[in-house]
Amino acid sequence: MIQVDLTGKIAVVTGATRGIGLGIAKALAKSGAKVACIGTNEEKLRNSVQGIVDDGGDAKAYVCNVADSAAVDATAKNVLADFGRVDIVVNNAGITRDMLVRRITDEMWDDVINVNLRGTFLITRAFVESMRKSKWGRIINIASISGLIGNKGQANYSASKAGVIGFTRTISKELGNRNITANAICPGFVETDMTAVLEPIYVQGIKDRIPVGRIGSPDDIANAVLFFASPDSSYVTGQILTVDGGLIY
Ligand code: NAI
Repeated sequence: MIQVDLTGKIAVVTGATRGIGLGIAKALAKSGAKVACIGTNEEKLRNSVQGIVDDGGDAKAYVCNVADSAAVDATAKNVLADFGRVDIVVNNAGITRDMLVRRITDEMWDDVINVNLRGTFLITRAFVESMRKSKWGRIINIASISGLIGNKGQANYSASKAGVIGFTRTISKELGNRNITANAICPGFVETDMTAVLEPIYVQGIKDRIPVGRIGSPDDIANAVLFFASPDSSYVTGQILTVDGGLIY
């Protein structure tokens, strides 16, 4: 793990129940941050948070659907009441509803846009005032290479992630003068529950195109998050970092 000292920092991570989000929450906690973990599945979220605490980290669970404006605002109120302020926001919660464009239903479109893009906006808006007040902040959005290059069967998902990239670039311009950076990470293929549903032959096809010779892990993405979260990365903002093992498109 990349060594970054986040002692005293307060972080929020969405979708921290499992996969990349859990990897990020663990890495932030190991670096000394107090972590507010947001997820939708209460039991799984509490188990994941307990794991972080058992490892010596400081973390608390908040059940919240990031696409629900009222729920996000209520959760932000609770987080701010518990921790006093927020310094680092990681918008990681995301879903897929993959289908060829001609068969994407309104619901499949809206679900993906609402969680991935609207959720990123709602969470950012809910915590940005706290960061503005303390004149220090790190916003790190988990996008995807699908948002950069597109991916067959993911018109809704790639549109949502391209939206996250545009959103990140814009808020970096709005918030820079408050010492708040905003950056996005575009993971390539990472082994999580999200990708576990894919056919092994499809996964092998991707692996064959990764020069470093392996599928990514949540820790690979967490390390990039630690760089952007670091007090020492204050001159890096509005950037989109691809973390994909060099995947050949
Ligand atoms: P995952 O499906 O394993 O975990 C997603 C997390 O988001 C879960 O904790 C889930 O509870 C949470 N979540 C889903 N909907 C939510 C909602 N409405 N409100 C709050 N939390 C919600 O997914 P994975 O693979 O860990 O992905 C994490 C992020 O990384 C996502 O944004 C995904 O799009 C992105 N990503 C993943 C890649 C991969 O290969 N796994 C590649 C590129 C991007």
